[in-house]
Amino acid sequence: MKNKSLVSINDYSKEEQLRILELAREFEKKPVQTIMQDYVVASLFFEPSTRTRLSFESAVNRLGGKVIGFSEAANTSVKKGESLRDTILTIANYSDLIVMRNPVEGSARFAAEISSVPVINAGDGANQHPTQTLLDLYSIVKTQGTLDNLHVAFVGDLKYGRTVHSLVIALCNYNTTFHLVSPIELKLPSSVKMHIKEKNLTYHQYTELEEAIPHADVLYMTRIQKERFSDPLEYERIKNSYILSNNILNNTKENLKVMHPLPRVNEININVDSNPKAYYFEQALNGVYVRQALMASILGLR
Ligand code: CP
Repeated sequence: MKNKSLVSINDYSKEEQLRILELAREFEKKPVQTIMQDYVVASLFFEPSTRTRLSFESAVNRLGGKVIGFSEAANTSVKKGESLRDTILTIANYSDLIVMRNPVEGSARFAAEISSVPVINAGDGANQHPTQTLLDLYSIVKTQGTLDNLHVAFVGDLKYGRTVHSLVIALCNYNTTFHLVSPIELKLPSSVKMHIKEKNLTYHQYTELEEAIPHADVLYMTRIQKERFSDPLEYERIKNSYILSNNILNNTKENLKVMHPLPRVNEININVDSNPKAYYFEQALNGVYVRQALMASILGLR
């Protein structure tokens, strides 16, 4: 994986993804090391982020590396009209690895094609979020003991949810049964469903959460993404379509874990946080170890 950009989850084979998860287990045991002390990571966030940006930065800092970058483009020369091309060509001269989040779908692929250093896609519009997928896979295997033959329920904004798109594609390697719960307007795009069909896997579509939940080993809740709606009234109409409560969790499998890429708005009642089935904050912590493993692999340090 040395020098290999990660833009879409399928850029890495199943074996390469599993190697990252294996390595993440090692970093979880020993997250503070000095292996990155000679390396500079550029963290370019053109779109807001809490977990992805700060877990990447935490991962670099704990491995002794240095981070340069920005958390909004407003204070950069982008504001003066500089193109993404020129921004990437310049920053590649200052760093060994670029981590980028950008609202434009395909921008990470473009950056990876022109950059002289590897690029990690930290989310490009509604397209993909592959590092979230790696930490989701890590969280699933940690809690379920396997990635194989699980029933995974995805709930909420399956149309614009880039974390959903990447994770569905990755789970197609593991004989997953998919339970897809969304309002009619936010169904999983056919371009993503195509991956399920190609592997002859089973999927069920629902509009009611209660229909899917008894089957699930993993319940992957997502936020209805206000920023992707062109019509604010449409967002207001469907924003509270699904609100998970402890009552709903009563009728679920013993081994069920509730995951969420976060941020949460209203879709998981705060009382669920203390339910033993809630796993979303541990899931976010796993992001540090997985991102350490990914960067160490790309830089050829492991
Ligand atoms: N999961 C995730 O991408 O969260 P942030 O938007 O806070 O980075």
